[in-house]
Amino acid sequence: MRLAIFGTGYVGLVTGTCLAEVGHDVVCVDIDAAKVEGLKRGVIPIYEPGLEPMVKANHAAGRLDFTTDAAAAIAHGEVVFIAVGTPPDEDGSADLKYVLAVAKTIGQHLARPAVIVDKSTVPVGTADKVRAAIAQELQARGEDIPFEVVSNPEFLKEGDAVKDCMRPDRIVIGASSKAAIEKMKRLYAPFNRNHERIVAMDVRSAELTKYAANAMLATKISFMNEIANIAEKVGADIEHVRQGIGSDPRIGWHFIYPGAGYGGSCFPKDVQALARTSRQVGHEAVLLQAVETVNDRQKGHLFELIARHYDGEVRGRTFAVWGLAFKPNTDDMREASSRRLLEQLWDAGAKVRAYDPEAAEEARRIFGERPDLALCDSASAALQGADALVVVTEWKQFRSPDFAKLHGILRDRAIFDGRNLYEPAEVEAAGIAYWGIGRGRSI
Ligand code: UGA
Repeated sequence: MRLAIFGTGYVGLVTGTCLAEVGHDVVCVDIDAAKVEGLKRGVIPIYEPGLEPMVKANHAAGRLDFTTDAAAAIAHGEVVFIAVGTPPDEDGSADLKYVLAVAKTIGQHLARPAVIVDKSTVPVGTADKVRAAIAQELQARGEDIPFEVVSNPEFLKEGDAVKDCMRPDRIVIGASSKAAIEKMKRLYAPFNRNHERIVAMDVRSAELTKYAANAMLATKISFMNEIANIAEKVGADIEHVRQGIGSDPRIGWHFIYPGAGYGGSCFPKDVQALARTSRQVGHEAVLLQAVETVNDRQKGHLFELIARHYDGEVRGRTFAVWGLAFKPNTDDMREASSRRLLEQLWDAGAKVRAYDPEAAEEARRIFGERPDLALCDSASAALQGADALVVVTEWKQFRSPDFAKLHGILRDRAIFDGRNLYEPAEVEAAGIAYWGIGRGRSI
């Protein structure tokens, strides 16, 4: 099938590449000419395992092209995806200006019947707005070309995006006609082998499904962080509690890891946007607000532990920070817990020596050059001259440090473990004070 994809950000680029990989003829459009030129040469603007070779191979095979020419892309696509960003505006709702600008462009250039697909995470009711924006432009042109707007939310995770896209656990399609659903089923047929993964429904349910999925996952995390805080106070160990509940299949092992709070471009934004939508329709979503409040508090928890350990005397100390990205296998620092921690350490007069395998450049862009931040080239370089170590992101390479060595390097012999990577007893046996999340044992 001939497909056009608007937006070569995270979702658009991964989706376009995976659709080309299974044989579709894909044209990706972006307004950023430099990005488009780069992509044609195989320069990938994001870090995502496995993506680069796939982009290059499909581009070389002629199945994946990049352009700034919206009209040509619309002429190319019998299915046109909208996968542009929906940043939060000041009040937390998703800003639809990019989505609606694309809709307008589609209306200006559409020349034959097409299916338009909302792939971006958009509030319930957006498909109607997209339809209206396209219809208005068609009307202005005096054209009466049939089109349908379909909701097909994306569920891929950063760091696993290619895998998630190539082997989806479900494909949600919200449409109002059988014909559109059939077309989408044909498009996704290569991903729908062995058992049925397509869940077809009405448009609004599909739009809400996306938010419900992310809000449920965020709720699990905030719930565990809340229990971790209780564990800390009552002298229980959340890691035992986690293992004690995860084996119940109704609870499950996924997303019950307590930590320094969830970040990224999705959970914080989507929980807020859903709460906002809910308020707009006259329902106060108290649970969602609590999920957000707990997470916000949790982002400050590592600093609380540090301040408690030092009896508030943090000024003048140097902290090695391992991990800046909001999670491993990405260079993304949007809403990352590390950002709150660093700001708090700096406000308290401390210095930071940070290492992240991928996010150093992003950190440099965010924080600029400053005397109280050293961005180091390795985990061990970050430790040089540090009083204590703080782990914020669970990159695999941080999982088993040599504690005897750390004992010799860290001047204050203290580790603050924001992802519960280490066994308190093992760290303490090496003569290092250990603070984890919800591990009342050593508190
Ligand atoms: C999330 C969802 O997992 C995807 O299904 C969804 O498609 C995506 O948002 C989206 O809407 O685009 P992502 O933001 O890439 O994906 O990251 P996750 O792997 O879900 O992690 C989110 C945050 O939760 C991270 O900061 C992570 O450290 C934290 N987390 C995760 C925990 O604190 N505990 C856990 O048990 C799991």
